[in-house]
Amino acid sequence: MCGILAVLGSHDYSPTKRARILELSRRLRHRGPDWSGLFVDEQACCYLSHERLAIIDPTSGDQPLYNGNKSIVVAVNGEIYNHEALKKTMKKHDYHTQSDCEVIAHLYEEVGEDVVGMLDGMFSFVLVDLRDKSFIAARDPIGITPLYLGWGNDGGVYFASEMKALKDDCERFEVFPPGHLYSSKSGGLRRYFNPPWYSGTMIPNTPYDPTVLRTAFEKAVIKRLMTDVPFGVLLSGGLDSSLVAAVASRHLANSKAANVWGAQLHTFSVGLKGSPDLKAAKEVADYLKTKHHEFTFTVQDGLDAISDVIYYTETYDVTTIRASTPMFLMTRKIKALGVKMVLSGEGSDEIFGGYLYFHKAPNKEELHKETVRKIKALYMFDCLRANKSTSAWGLEARVPFLDQDFMSIAMAIDPAEKMIRKDEGRIEKWIMRRAFDTPENPFLPKHILYRQKEQFSDGVGYSWIDGLKAHAASQVTDRMLKHAKHVYPYNTPNTKEAYFYRMIFEKHFPQESARMTVPGGPSIACSTAAAIAWDKAWADNLDPSGRAALGVHDAAYSEVTPATTTTTTQSSHENVISANSFNNNNPLLGNILQPQGVQ
Ligand SMILES: *[C@@H]1O[C@H](CO)[C@@H](O)[C@H](O)[C@H]1NC(C)=O
Repeated sequence: MCGILAVLGSHDYSPTKRARILELSRRLRHRGPDWSGLFVDEQACCYLSHERLAIIDPTSGDQPLYNGNKSIVVAVNGEIYNHEALKKTMKKHDYHTQSDCEVIAHLYEEVGEDVVGMLDGMFSFVLVDLRDKSFIAARDPIGITPLYLGWGNDGGVYFASEMKALKDDCERFEVFPPGHLYSSKSGGLRRYFNPPWYSGTMIPNTPYDPTVLRTAFEKAVIKRLMTDVPFGVLLSGGLDSSLVAAVASRHLANSKAANVWGAQLHTFSVGLKGSPDLKAAKEVADYLKTKHHEFTFTVQDGLDAISDVIYYTETYDVTTIRASTPMFLMTRKIKALGVKMVLSGEGSDEIFGGYLYFHKAPNKEELHKETVRKIKALYMFDCLRANKSTSAWGLEARVPFLDQDFMSIAMAIDPAEKMIRKDEGRIEKWIMRRAFDTPENPFLPKHILYRQKEQFSDGVGYSWIDGLKAHAASQVTDRMLKHAKHVYPYNTPNTKEAYFYRMIFEKHFPQESARMTVPGGPSIACSTAAAIAWDKAWADNLDPSGRAALGVHDAAYSEVTPATTTTTTQSSHENVISANSFNNNNPLLGNILQPQGVQ
Protein backbone atom coordinates (compact mmCIF):
# COMPACT_ATOMS: atom_id res chain seq x y z
CA MET A 1 0.00 0.00 0.00
CA CYS A 2 0.92 3.61 -0.19
CA GLY A 3 -0.26 6.85 1.34
CA ILE A 4 -1.63 9.74 -0.67
CA LEU A 5 -2.44 13.29 0.30
CA ALA A 6 -3.81 15.85 -2.14
CA VAL A 7 -4.90 19.43 -1.67
CA LEU A 8 -6.71 21.05 -4.57
CA GLY A 9 -7.87 24.61 -4.94
CA SER A 10 -5.93 26.01 -2.01
CA HIS A 11 -4.97 29.68 -2.39
CA ASP A 12 -1.72 29.19 -0.46
CA TYR A 13 1.54 28.20 -2.18
CA SER A 14 3.96 29.69 0.32
CA PRO A 15 7.03 27.79 1.60
CA THR A 16 5.22 27.47 4.93
CA LYS A 17 2.31 25.72 3.28
CA ARG A 18 4.61 23.40 1.40
CA ALA A 19 6.31 22.48 4.66
CA ARG A 20 2.92 21.88 6.24
CA ILE A 21 1.84 19.56 3.41
CA LEU A 22 5.05 17.58 3.85
CA GLU A 23 4.37 17.34 7.57
CA LEU A 24 0.82 16.07 7.01
CA SER A 25 2.02 13.62 4.41
CA ARG A 26 4.62 12.32 6.84
CA ARG A 27 1.75 11.10 9.03
CA LEU A 28 1.04 8.57 6.28
CA ARG A 29 4.60 7.38 5.89
CA HIS A 30 4.00 4.08 7.69
CA ARG A 31 1.85 3.11 4.70
CA GLY A 32 4.67 3.76 2.25
CA PRO A 33 8.09 3.90 3.89
CA ASP A 34 10.10 3.40 0.68
CA TRP A 35 10.01 6.83 -0.95
CA SER A 36 8.14 10.14 -0.93
CA GLY A 37 7.19 12.47 -3.76
CA LEU A 38 5.47 15.85 -3.76
CA PHE A 39 4.12 17.49 -6.89
CA VAL A 40 3.07 21.13 -6.66
CA ASP A 41 1.63 23.29 -9.42
CA GLU A 42 0.45 26.73 -8.47
CA GLN A 43 -1.22 27.35 -11.84
CA ALA A 44 -3.33 24.25 -11.47
CA CYS A 45 -3.76 24.91 -7.74
CA CYS A 46 -2.63 21.51 -6.57
CA TYR A 47 -0.48 19.64 -4.12
CA LEU A 48 -0.13 15.90 -4.74
CA SER A 49 1.89 14.01 -2.19
CA HIS A 50 2.74 10.34 -2.19
CA GLU A 51 4.36 8.00 0.33
CA ARG A 52 5.38 4.91 -1.54
CA LEU A 53 5.50 1.21 -0.71
CA ALA A 54 7.31 -0.28 -3.67
CA ILE A 55 5.86 -3.60 -4.79
CA ILE A 56 5.94 -3.37 -8.58
CA ASP A 57 8.96 -1.82 -10.26
CA PRO A 58 10.69 -0.86 -7.01
CA THR A 59 13.57 0.88 -8.77
CA SER A 60 11.80 3.36 -11.03
CA GLY A 61 8.11 3.44 -10.17
CA ASP A 62 8.20 6.45 -7.86
CA GLN A 63 5.16 8.70 -7.78
CA PRO A 64 3.44 10.93 -8.72
CA LEU A 65 3.06 9.36 -12.17
CA TYR A 66 2.50 11.09 -15.49
CA ASN A 67 1.15 10.60 -18.97
CA GLY A 68 3.52 10.91 -21.95
CA ASN A 69 4.06 14.70 -22.02
CA LYS A 70 3.34 15.20 -18.31
CA SER A 71 0.13 17.15 -18.82
CA ILE A 72 -1.65 14.67 -16.55
CA VAL A 73 -0.36 13.77 -13.11
CA VAL A 74 -1.67 11.18 -10.68
CA ALA A 75 -0.94 9.95 -7.15
CA VAL A 76 -2.20 6.43 -6.56
CA ASN A 77 -2.50 4.09 -3.62
CA GLY A 78 -3.20 0.68 -5.03
CA GLU A 79 -2.68 -2.12 -7.47
CA ILE A 80 -4.11 -2.26 -10.98
CA TYR A 81 -4.21 -5.96 -11.84
CA ASN A 82 -5.32 -5.47 -15.45
CA HIS A 83 -2.70 -2.87 -16.37
CA GLU A 84 -1.10 -5.10 -19.00
CA ALA A 85 -4.41 -6.07 -20.53
CA LEU A 86 -5.41 -2.40 -20.69
CA LYS A 87 -2.15 -1.39 -22.35
CA LYS A 88 -2.83 -3.90 -25.12
CA THR A 89 -6.14 -2.26 -25.97
CA MET A 90 -4.81 1.28 -25.73
CA LYS A 91 -3.03 3.53 -28.20
CA LYS A 92 0.76 3.76 -28.04
CA HIS A 93 2.00 5.90 -25.16
CA ASP A 94 5.40 6.84 -23.82
CA TYR A 95 5.63 5.10 -20.47
CA HIS A 96 8.01 6.54 -17.90
CA THR A 97 8.00 3.57 -15.48
CA GLN A 98 6.99 -0.09 -15.19
CA SER A 99 4.50 0.81 -12.46
CA ASP A 100 1.07 -0.80 -12.86
CA CYS A 101 -0.50 2.49 -11.76
CA GLU A 102 0.96 4.63 -14.53
CA VAL A 103 -1.67 3.27 -16.88
CA ILE A 104 -4.24 5.47 -15.10
CA ALA A 105 -2.67 8.68 -16.44
CA HIS A 106 -2.47 7.40 -20.03
CA LEU A 107 -5.93 5.90 -19.96
CA TYR A 108 -7.37 9.15 -18.63
CA GLU A 109 -5.80 10.91 -21.60
CA GLU A 110 -7.81 8.56 -23.86
CA VAL A 111 -11.13 8.22 -22.10
CA GLY A 112 -11.31 10.90 -19.39
CA GLU A 113 -13.34 10.12 -16.29
CA ASP A 114 -14.46 6.74 -17.67
CA VAL A 115 -11.06 5.47 -16.59
CA VAL A 116 -12.45 4.58 -13.16
CA GLY A 117 -14.82 1.92 -14.42
CA MET A 118 -12.09 0.23 -16.47
CA LEU A 119 -9.66 -0.50 -13.68
CA ASP A 120 -9.54 -3.95 -12.11
CA GLY A 121 -7.91 -3.71 -8.74
CA MET A 122 -7.85 -1.89 -5.45
CA PHE A 123 -7.10 1.79 -5.64
CA SER A 124 -7.56 5.30 -4.41
CA PHE A 125 -6.15 8.06 -6.52
CA VAL A 126 -6.19 11.76 -7.22
CA LEU A 127 -5.49 12.87 -10.79
CA VAL A 128 -4.89 16.40 -12.02
CA ASP A 129 -5.33 17.41 -15.65
CA LEU A 130 -2.95 20.36 -16.04
CA ARG A 131 -4.44 21.22 -19.45
CA ASP A 132 -7.73 22.48 -18.05
CA LYS A 133 -6.78 22.50 -14.33
CA SER A 134 -9.47 19.98 -13.49
CA PHE A 135 -9.06 17.02 -11.19
CA ILE A 136 -10.72 13.75 -10.23
CA ALA A 137 -10.44 11.52 -7.17
CA ALA A 138 -11.71 7.96 -6.96
CA ARG A 139 -11.90 4.96 -4.65
CA ASP A 140 -12.18 1.30 -5.64
CA PRO A 141 -15.63 -0.34 -5.83
CA ILE A 142 -15.65 -2.05 -2.43
CA GLY A 143 -13.34 0.27 -0.53
CA ILE A 144 -10.43 -2.12 -0.07
CA THR A 145 -8.17 0.89 0.08
CA PRO A 146 -9.07 3.73 2.44
CA LEU A 147 -9.73 7.34 1.42
CA TYR A 148 -11.04 10.42 3.20
CA LEU A 149 -11.97 13.84 1.91
CA GLY A 150 -12.14 17.13 3.73
CA TRP A 151 -12.46 20.87 3.34
CA GLY A 152 -9.97 23.38 4.66
CA ASN A 153 -10.03 27.07 5.47
CA ASP A 154 -7.58 27.68 2.65
CA GLY A 155 -10.30 26.97 0.09
CA GLY A 156 -8.82 23.55 -0.60
CA VAL A 157 -10.47 20.18 -1.01
CA TYR A 158 -8.31 17.62 0.75
CA PHE A 159 -7.99 13.90 0.03
CA ALA A 160 -5.95 11.49 2.15
CA SER A 161 -5.54 7.75 2.68
CA GLU A 162 -6.01 8.16 6.43
CA MET A 163 -7.83 10.86 8.31
CA LYS A 164 -4.84 11.56 10.56
CA ALA A 165 -3.47 13.63 7.67
CA LEU A 166 -6.63 15.76 7.46
CA LYS A 167 -7.89 16.05 10.99
CA ASP A 168 -5.99 19.16 12.03
CA ASP A 169 -6.20 21.14 8.80
CA CYS A 170 -9.75 20.51 7.65
CA GLU A 171 -12.77 22.18 9.14
CA ARG A 172 -14.74 19.11 8.22
CA PHE A 173 -13.86 15.73 6.77
CA GLU A 174 -15.57 12.46 6.02
CA VAL A 175 -15.12 9.02 4.52
CA PHE A 176 -14.81 9.03 0.73
CA PRO A 177 -17.45 6.50 -0.30
CA PRO A 178 -16.28 3.36 -2.16
CA GLY A 179 -17.14 3.01 -5.83
CA HIS A 180 -17.39 6.78 -6.20
CA LEU A 181 -15.71 9.43 -8.28
CA TYR A 182 -15.20 13.06 -7.26
CA SER A 183 -14.97 15.33 -10.24
CA SER A 184 -14.06 18.99 -10.09
CA LYS A 185 -15.90 19.52 -13.38
CA SER A 186 -19.22 18.31 -12.05
CA GLY A 187 -18.32 19.60 -8.60
CA GLY A 188 -19.04 16.55 -6.52
CA LEU A 189 -19.34 12.84 -5.92
CA ARG A 190 -21.07 10.29 -8.08
CA ARG A 191 -21.16 6.52 -7.91
CA TYR A 192 -19.51 4.85 -10.89
CA PHE A 193 -19.74 1.27 -9.65
CA ASN A 194 -23.09 -0.26 -10.45
CA PRO A 195 -23.02 -3.98 -11.33
CA PRO A 196 -26.31 -5.89 -11.59
CA TRP A 197 -26.11 -7.31 -8.07
CA TYR A 198 -25.41 -3.99 -6.39
CA SER A 199 -28.94 -2.73 -5.86
CA GLY A 200 -29.93 -5.89 -4.01
CA THR A 201 -33.44 -5.69 -5.40
CA MET A 202 -33.00 -8.06 -8.32
CA ILE A 203 -32.72 -11.59 -6.98
CA PRO A 204 -30.22 -13.43 -9.20
CA ASN A 205 -30.96 -16.84 -10.69
CA THR A 206 -27.84 -18.22 -12.34
CA PRO A 207 -27.58 -21.94 -11.52
CA TYR A 208 -24.67 -22.93 -9.30
CA ASP A 209 -21.76 -24.41 -11.22
CA PRO A 210 -18.93 -25.50 -8.90
CA THR A 211 -16.36 -25.44 -11.68
CA VAL A 212 -17.21 -21.89 -12.72
CA LEU A 213 -16.98 -20.67 -9.13
CA ARG A 214 -13.71 -22.50 -8.49
CA THR A 215 -12.10 -21.24 -11.69
CA ALA A 216 -13.12 -17.67 -10.94
CA PHE A 217 -11.57 -17.86 -7.49
CA GLU A 218 -8.38 -19.41 -8.81
CA LYS A 219 -8.10 -16.56 -11.30
CA ALA A 220 -8.66 -14.02 -8.53
CA VAL A 221 -5.79 -15.48 -6.51
CA ILE A 222 -3.42 -15.89 -9.46
CA LYS A 223 -4.01 -12.27 -10.49
CA ARG A 224 -2.80 -11.23 -7.04
CA LEU A 225 0.49 -13.06 -7.34
CA MET A 226 1.66 -10.04 -9.39
CA THR A 227 4.66 -8.80 -7.35
CA ASP A 228 8.33 -7.91 -7.56
CA VAL A 229 8.89 -8.40 -3.81
CA PRO A 230 8.58 -11.26 -1.25
CA PHE A 231 5.04 -12.15 -0.17
CA GLY A 232 2.95 -14.70 1.70
CA VAL A 233 -0.53 -15.63 2.89
CA LEU A 234 -2.20 -14.83 6.23
CA LEU A 235 -3.45 -18.20 7.36
CA SER A 236 -5.88 -18.63 10.24
CA GLY A 237 -6.70 -22.21 9.33
CA GLY A 238 -10.33 -21.39 8.62
CA LEU A 239 -11.94 -22.07 5.27
CA ASP A 240 -11.29 -18.73 3.59
CA SER A 241 -7.62 -18.24 4.29
CA SER A 242 -6.98 -21.95 3.72
CA LEU A 243 -8.51 -21.72 0.25
CA VAL A 244 -6.39 -18.69 -0.55
CA ALA A 245 -3.26 -20.55 0.61
CA ALA A 246 -4.20 -23.74 -1.23
CA VAL A 247 -4.74 -21.96 -4.54
CA ALA A 248 -1.70 -19.71 -4.14
CA SER A 249 0.62 -22.60 -3.33
CA ARG A 250 -0.67 -24.60 -6.30
CA HIS A 251 -0.10 -21.77 -8.76
CA LEU A 252 2.98 -20.16 -7.29
CA ALA A 253 5.43 -22.44 -9.05
CA ASN A 254 4.20 -21.27 -12.47
CA SER A 255 4.07 -17.60 -11.67
CA LYS A 256 6.59 -14.81 -12.05
CA ALA A 257 6.35 -14.30 -8.30
CA ALA A 258 8.23 -17.57 -7.75
CA ASN A 259 11.40 -15.87 -9.02
CA VAL A 260 11.20 -13.40 -6.20
CA TRP A 261 11.25 -15.59 -3.15
CA GLY A 262 11.17 -19.17 -4.36
CA ALA A 263 8.37 -21.51 -5.29
CA GLN A 264 7.49 -22.48 -1.74
CA LEU A 265 4.65 -20.42 -0.36
CA HIS A 266 5.17 -18.60 2.94
CA THR A 267 2.24 -18.61 5.37
CA PHE A 268 1.76 -16.68 8.60
CA SER A 269 -0.45 -17.21 11.59
CA VAL A 270 -0.94 -15.52 14.94
CA GLY A 271 -2.46 -16.45 18.27
CA LEU A 272 -2.05 -16.75 21.98
CA LYS A 273 -0.01 -19.81 22.90
CA GLY A 274 -2.02 -22.94 22.14
CA SER A 275 -4.85 -21.07 20.39
CA PRO A 276 -7.30 -22.76 17.99
CA ASP A 277 -6.09 -20.73 15.00
CA LEU A 278 -2.45 -21.64 15.47
CA LYS A 279 -3.35 -25.30 15.58
CA ALA A 280 -5.69 -25.14 12.59
CA ALA A 281 -3.23 -23.08 10.53
CA LYS A 282 -0.38 -25.47 11.27
CA GLU A 283 -2.44 -28.36 10.06
CA VAL A 284 -3.22 -26.60 6.77
CA ALA A 285 0.39 -25.44 6.35
CA ASP A 286 1.65 -28.99 6.89
CA TYR A 287 -0.79 -30.29 4.32
CA LEU A 288 0.16 -27.64 1.76
CA LYS A 289 3.85 -27.94 2.66
CA THR A 290 4.23 -24.20 2.99
CA LYS A 291 7.05 -22.42 4.79
CA HIS A 292 4.98 -21.61 7.83
CA HIS A 293 5.66 -18.86 10.37
CA GLU A 294 3.82 -18.88 13.68
CA PHE A 295 3.69 -15.81 15.89
CA THR A 296 2.46 -15.85 19.44
CA PHE A 297 1.52 -12.88 21.56
CA THR A 298 0.39 -12.50 25.15
CA VAL A 299 -2.74 -10.73 26.36
CA GLN A 300 -0.43 -8.07 27.82
CA ASP A 301 1.29 -7.56 24.43
CA GLY A 302 -2.13 -7.00 22.94
CA LEU A 303 -3.28 -4.61 25.64
CA ASP A 304 -0.08 -2.62 25.28
CA ALA A 305 -0.77 -2.19 21.57
CA ILE A 306 -4.40 -1.06 21.81
CA SER A 307 -3.69 2.65 21.68
CA ASP A 308 -1.50 2.22 18.59
CA VAL A 309 -4.10 -0.03 17.00
CA ILE A 310 -6.76 2.63 17.42
CA TYR A 311 -4.44 5.34 16.10
CA TYR A 312 -3.65 3.35 12.96
CA THR A 313 -7.09 1.86 12.28
CA GLU A 314 -8.95 5.08 13.13
CA THR A 315 -11.98 3.36 14.59
CA TYR A 316 -13.66 2.64 17.92
CA ASP A 317 -15.69 -0.28 16.61
CA VAL A 318 -15.33 -3.05 19.19
CA THR A 319 -15.16 -6.02 16.84
CA THR A 320 -12.69 -4.29 14.56
CA ILE A 321 -10.31 -3.42 17.39
CA ARG A 322 -10.43 -6.93 18.85
CA ALA A 323 -9.54 -8.46 15.51
CA SER A 324 -7.11 -5.78 14.37
CA THR A 325 -4.78 -6.14 17.34
CA PRO A 326 -3.43 -9.63 16.59
CA MET A 327 -3.18 -8.68 12.93
CA PHE A 328 -1.28 -5.51 13.81
CA LEU A 329 1.16 -7.44 16.02
CA MET A 330 1.68 -10.17 13.46
CA THR A 331 2.24 -7.66 10.67
CA ARG A 332 5.21 -6.15 12.42
CA LYS A 333 6.89 -9.54 12.57
CA ILE A 334 6.03 -10.35 8.98
CA LYS A 335 7.57 -7.07 7.89
CA ALA A 336 10.65 -7.89 9.94
CA LEU A 337 11.12 -10.97 7.77
CA GLY A 338 11.39 -8.74 4.70
CA VAL A 339 7.90 -9.49 3.41
CA LYS A 340 5.96 -6.63 1.81
CA MET A 341 2.72 -8.17 0.62
CA VAL A 342 0.25 -10.77 1.89
CA LEU A 343 -2.95 -12.33 0.60
CA SER A 344 -5.83 -12.47 3.06
CA GLY A 345 -9.30 -14.04 3.22
CA GLU A 346 -11.64 -11.10 3.90
CA GLY A 347 -14.99 -10.85 2.13
CA SER A 348 -16.05 -14.47 1.92
CA ASP A 349 -18.46 -14.29 4.86
CA GLU A 350 -20.25 -11.34 3.29
CA ILE A 351 -20.50 -12.81 -0.21
CA PHE A 352 -21.61 -16.27 0.87
CA GLY A 353 -23.51 -15.48 4.05
CA GLY A 354 -20.92 -17.06 6.32
CA TYR A 355 -21.94 -15.32 9.53
CA LEU A 356 -23.84 -17.57 11.85
CA TYR A 357 -27.02 -15.52 11.86
CA PHE A 358 -27.47 -16.50 8.23
CA HIS A 359 -28.75 -19.77 9.66
CA LYS A 360 -31.85 -17.79 10.47
CA ALA A 361 -32.42 -16.38 6.99
CA PRO A 362 -36.09 -17.03 6.27
CA ASN A 363 -35.78 -17.19 2.49
CA LYS A 364 -33.37 -16.66 -0.37
CA GLU A 365 -34.53 -13.11 -1.11
CA GLU A 366 -33.74 -11.95 2.42
CA LEU A 367 -30.46 -13.77 2.37
CA HIS A 368 -29.39 -12.16 -0.89
CA LYS A 369 -30.30 -8.66 0.27
CA GLU A 370 -28.37 -9.16 3.48
CA THR A 371 -25.25 -10.33 1.63
CA VAL A 372 -25.42 -7.18 -0.50
CA ARG A 373 -25.77 -5.01 2.60
CA LYS A 374 -22.82 -6.75 4.24
CA ILE A 375 -20.63 -6.26 1.18
CA LYS A 376 -21.51 -2.57 1.04
CA ALA A 377 -20.49 -2.16 4.69
CA LEU A 378 -17.14 -3.94 4.31
CA TYR A 379 -15.22 -0.71 3.84
CA MET A 380 -16.02 0.30 7.41
CA PHE A 381 -15.10 -3.03 8.95
CA ASP A 382 -13.08 -5.91 7.52
CA CYS A 383 -11.59 -3.93 4.63
CA LEU A 384 -10.62 -1.17 7.01
CA ARG A 385 -9.07 -3.67 9.44
CA ALA A 386 -7.19 -5.64 6.79
CA ASN A 387 -5.81 -2.52 5.14
CA LYS A 388 -4.96 -0.32 8.07
CA SER A 389 -3.62 -2.88 10.53
CA THR A 390 -1.15 -4.09 7.88
CA SER A 391 -0.38 -0.66 6.40
CA ALA A 392 0.59 0.44 9.91
CA TRP A 393 3.86 -1.40 9.27
CA GLY A 394 4.12 -0.94 5.52
CA LEU A 395 2.70 -4.30 4.55
CA GLU A 396 0.20 -4.61 1.73
CA ALA A 397 -2.84 -6.91 2.07
CA ARG A 398 -4.60 -8.23 -1.03
CA VAL A 399 -8.05 -9.75 -0.83
CA PRO A 400 -8.93 -12.21 -3.62
CA PHE A 401 -12.52 -12.77 -2.45
CA LEU A 402 -13.24 -9.15 -3.34
CA ASP A 403 -12.07 -9.57 -6.90
CA GLN A 404 -14.59 -7.90 -9.20
CA ASP A 405 -14.95 -10.81 -11.64
CA PHE A 406 -15.22 -13.33 -8.83
CA MET A 407 -17.84 -11.24 -7.09
CA SER A 408 -19.96 -10.85 -10.19
CA ILE A 409 -20.01 -14.63 -10.54
CA ALA A 410 -20.61 -15.34 -6.86
CA MET A 411 -23.31 -12.70 -6.57
CA ALA A 412 -25.15 -13.90 -9.69
CA ILE A 413 -25.70 -17.38 -8.27
CA ASP A 414 -29.24 -18.20 -7.22
CA PRO A 415 -29.15 -17.38 -3.48
CA ALA A 416 -31.20 -20.49 -2.75
CA GLU A 417 -27.81 -22.21 -3.08
CA LYS A 418 -26.43 -20.13 -0.22
CA MET A 419 -29.23 -21.06 2.16
CA ILE A 420 -28.00 -23.16 5.04
CA ARG A 421 -29.78 -26.49 5.12
CA LYS A 422 -28.61 -28.74 7.89
CA ASP A 423 -30.81 -31.60 6.82
CA GLU A 424 -28.88 -31.71 3.54
CA GLY A 425 -25.54 -31.25 5.28
CA ARG A 426 -25.18 -27.74 3.84
CA ILE A 427 -23.27 -25.64 6.33
CA GLU A 428 -22.49 -21.98 5.70
CA LYS A 429 -20.42 -21.22 2.59
CA TRP A 430 -21.24 -24.70 1.32
CA ILE A 431 -21.04 -23.69 -2.34
CA MET A 432 -17.44 -22.57 -1.91
CA ARG A 433 -16.56 -25.75 -0.02
CA ARG A 434 -18.24 -27.92 -2.63
CA ALA A 435 -16.49 -26.03 -5.44
CA PHE A 436 -13.10 -26.97 -3.99
CA ASP A 437 -14.07 -30.53 -3.15
CA THR A 438 -12.07 -32.14 -5.95
CA PRO A 439 -11.15 -35.63 -4.66
CA GLU A 440 -8.95 -36.52 -7.66
CA ASN A 441 -6.64 -33.58 -6.93
CA PRO A 442 -7.65 -32.17 -3.53
CA PHE A 443 -6.94 -28.59 -2.55
CA LEU A 444 -7.52 -29.32 1.13
CA PRO A 445 -8.36 -32.39 3.22
CA LYS A 446 -12.12 -32.89 3.53
CA HIS A 447 -12.28 -32.25 7.27
CA ILE A 448 -10.66 -28.84 6.78
CA LEU A 449 -12.80 -28.03 3.76
CA TYR A 450 -15.96 -28.65 5.78
CA ARG A 451 -14.76 -27.28 9.09
CA GLN A 452 -16.56 -24.37 10.71
CA LYS A 453 -14.28 -21.47 11.44
CA GLU A 454 -13.52 -19.58 14.60
CA GLN A 455 -14.06 -15.86 14.59
CA PHE A 456 -10.64 -14.30 14.04
CA SER A 457 -10.63 -12.36 17.30
CA ASP A 458 -11.62 -15.44 19.27
CA GLY A 459 -9.67 -17.94 17.24
CA VAL A 460 -6.45 -16.29 18.36
CA GLY A 461 -7.27 -17.56 21.86
CA TYR A 462 -10.36 -17.40 24.02
CA SER A 463 -8.66 -15.43 26.75
CA TRP A 464 -7.92 -12.54 24.39
CA ILE A 465 -11.48 -11.22 24.51
CA ASP A 466 -11.76 -11.98 28.23
CA GLY A 467 -8.49 -10.13 28.81
CA LEU A 468 -9.77 -7.10 26.91
CA LYS A 469 -13.00 -7.04 28.86
CA ALA A 470 -11.23 -7.41 32.20
CA HIS A 471 -8.78 -4.66 31.35
CA ALA A 472 -11.57 -2.33 30.21
CA ALA A 473 -13.46 -3.05 33.44
CA SER A 474 -10.41 -1.94 35.39
CA GLN A 475 -10.30 1.36 33.48
CA VAL A 476 -13.98 2.22 33.24
CA THR A 477 -16.17 2.47 36.34
CA ASP A 478 -19.89 1.79 36.55
CA ARG A 479 -20.49 5.47 37.01
CA MET A 480 -18.53 6.36 33.90
CA LEU A 481 -20.63 3.96 31.89
CA LYS A 482 -23.80 5.36 33.42
CA HIS A 483 -22.85 8.85 32.26
CA ALA A 484 -21.70 7.67 28.86
CA LYS A 485 -24.62 9.20 27.00
CA HIS A 486 -23.70 12.63 28.28
CA VAL A 487 -20.00 12.31 27.62
CA TYR A 488 -20.46 10.68 24.21
CA PRO A 489 -23.87 11.58 22.88
CA TYR A 490 -22.86 10.41 19.42
CA ASN A 491 -22.59 6.60 19.12
CA THR A 492 -22.74 6.21 22.90
CA PRO A 493 -20.62 3.26 24.06
CA ASN A 494 -22.79 0.70 25.83
CA THR A 495 -20.14 -1.54 27.38
CA LYS A 496 -17.02 -0.83 29.37
CA GLU A 497 -14.94 -2.24 26.58
CA ALA A 498 -16.56 0.09 24.03
CA TYR A 499 -16.12 3.02 26.44
CA PHE A 500 -12.45 2.18 26.90
CA TYR A 501 -11.77 2.18 23.15
CA ARG A 502 -13.76 5.36 22.75
CA MET A 503 -11.66 7.23 25.31
CA ILE A 504 -8.50 6.31 23.43
CA PHE A 505 -10.02 7.20 20.09
CA GLU A 506 -11.08 10.62 21.35
CA LYS A 507 -7.52 11.29 22.52
CA HIS A 508 -6.13 10.58 19.08
CA PHE A 509 -9.04 12.07 17.14
CA PRO A 510 -10.95 14.65 19.17
CA GLN A 511 -12.76 16.17 16.18
CA GLU A 512 -16.49 15.85 15.65
CA SER A 513 -15.85 14.82 12.04
CA ALA A 514 -13.58 12.02 13.22
CA ARG A 515 -16.10 10.33 15.48
CA MET A 516 -18.68 10.59 12.74
CA THR A 517 -16.59 8.48 10.37
CA VAL A 518 -17.12 5.47 12.61
CA PRO A 519 -20.33 3.46 12.38
CA GLY A 520 -22.22 2.32 15.40
CA GLY A 521 -25.19 3.22 17.44
CA PRO A 522 -26.37 3.50 20.99
CA SER A 523 -27.87 0.12 21.64
CA ILE A 524 -27.18 -1.83 18.56
CA ALA A 525 -23.56 -2.70 18.92
CA CYS A 526 -24.36 -6.36 19.09
CA SER A 527 -26.86 -6.83 16.36
CA THR A 528 -27.61 -6.46 12.74
CA ALA A 529 -31.02 -5.47 11.59
CA ALA A 530 -31.41 -8.67 9.65
CA ALA A 531 -30.49 -10.90 12.56
CA ILE A 532 -33.03 -9.17 14.72
CA ALA A 533 -35.72 -9.31 12.10
CA TRP A 534 -35.01 -12.95 11.48
CA ASP A 535 -35.04 -14.05 15.10
CA LYS A 536 -35.17 -11.41 17.77
CA ALA A 537 -34.97 -13.63 20.83
CA TRP A 538 -31.92 -15.31 19.46
CA ALA A 539 -30.23 -12.09 18.41
CA ASP A 540 -30.74 -10.59 21.86
CA ASN A 541 -28.56 -13.28 23.35
CA LEU A 542 -25.52 -12.32 21.43
CA ASP A 543 -22.51 -10.29 22.23
CA PRO A 544 -20.08 -9.01 19.62
CA SER A 545 -17.89 -12.07 19.89
CA GLY A 546 -20.93 -14.20 19.23
CA ARG A 547 -20.20 -16.53 22.05
CA ALA A 548 -23.70 -16.89 23.30
CA ALA A 549 -24.87 -18.04 19.95
CA LEU A 550 -24.53 -21.73 20.18
CA GLY A 551 -26.92 -23.97 18.51
CA VAL A 552 -25.93 -22.89 15.06
CA HIS A 553 -22.28 -23.70 15.33
CA ASP A 554 -20.94 -27.19 15.83
CA ALA A 555 -24.07 -28.19 17.54
CA ALA A 556 -26.00 -27.57 14.39
CA TYR A 557 -24.22 -30.40 12.70
CA SER A 558 -23.88 -32.82 15.53
CA GLU A 559 -27.56 -33.71 15.22
CA VAL A 560 -27.75 -33.48 18.97
CA THR A 561 -28.78 -29.91 19.39
CA PRO A 562 -31.42 -28.35 17.24
CA ALA A 563 -30.39 -25.15 15.56
CA THR A 564 -32.68 -23.03 17.62
CA THR A 565 -31.33 -24.09 20.98
CA THR A 566 -29.25 -21.56 22.80
CA THR A 567 -26.67 -22.88 25.17
CA THR A 568 -24.15 -21.17 27.35
CA THR A 569 -21.14 -23.17 26.36
CA GLN A 570 -18.03 -21.01 26.35
CA SER A 571 -16.83 -22.05 23.01
CA SER A 572 -16.51 -19.37 20.42
CA HIS A 573 -17.59 -18.64 16.95
CA GLU A 574 -17.82 -16.33 14.16
CA ASN A 575 -18.94 -12.91 14.83
CA VAL A 576 -22.52 -13.75 14.50
CA ILE A 577 -23.79 -10.42 15.14
CA SER A 578 -21.16 -8.02 14.61
CA ALA A 579 -21.50 -4.39 15.20
CA ASN A 580 -20.76 -4.56 11.62
CA SER A 581 -23.70 -3.92 9.56
CA PHE A 582 -24.89 -0.73 10.92
CA ASN A 583 -24.48 2.78 10.48
CA ASN A 584 -27.44 4.72 11.54
CA ASN A 585 -25.85 8.01 10.69
CA ASN A 586 -24.15 7.46 7.42
CA PRO A 587 -26.36 8.36 4.50
CA LEU A 588 -24.36 6.02 2.32
CA LEU A 589 -25.90 3.14 4.17
CA GLY A 590 -29.40 4.39 4.24
CA ASN A 591 -30.64 1.01 3.19
CA ILE A 592 -29.43 -0.59 6.36
CA LEU A 593 -32.32 -0.51 8.71
CA GLN A 594 -31.96 0.67 12.19
CA PRO A 595 -33.63 -1.78 14.49
CA GLN A 596 -36.20 -0.37 16.83
CA GLY A 597 -36.33 -0.99 20.51
CA VAL A 598 -33.32 -3.21 20.77
CA GLN A 599 -31.55 -3.10 24.07
C1 LIG B 1 0.11 16.60 -24.19
O1 LIG B 1 -0.63 15.55 -24.77
C2 LIG B 1 -2.02 15.71 -24.68
C3 LIG B 1 -2.65 14.43 -25.20
O2 LIG B 1 -2.17 14.13 -26.48
C4 LIG B 1 -2.48 16.95 -25.41
O3 LIG B 1 -3.87 17.11 -25.29
C5 LIG B 1 -1.76 18.14 -24.83
O4 LIG B 1 -2.07 19.29 -25.55
C6 LIG B 1 -0.26 17.95 -24.80
N1 LIG B 1 0.31 19.01 -24.00
C7 LIG B 1 1.46 19.60 -24.30
C8 LIG B 1 1.92 20.68 -23.36
O5 LIG B 1 2.09 19.31 -25.28
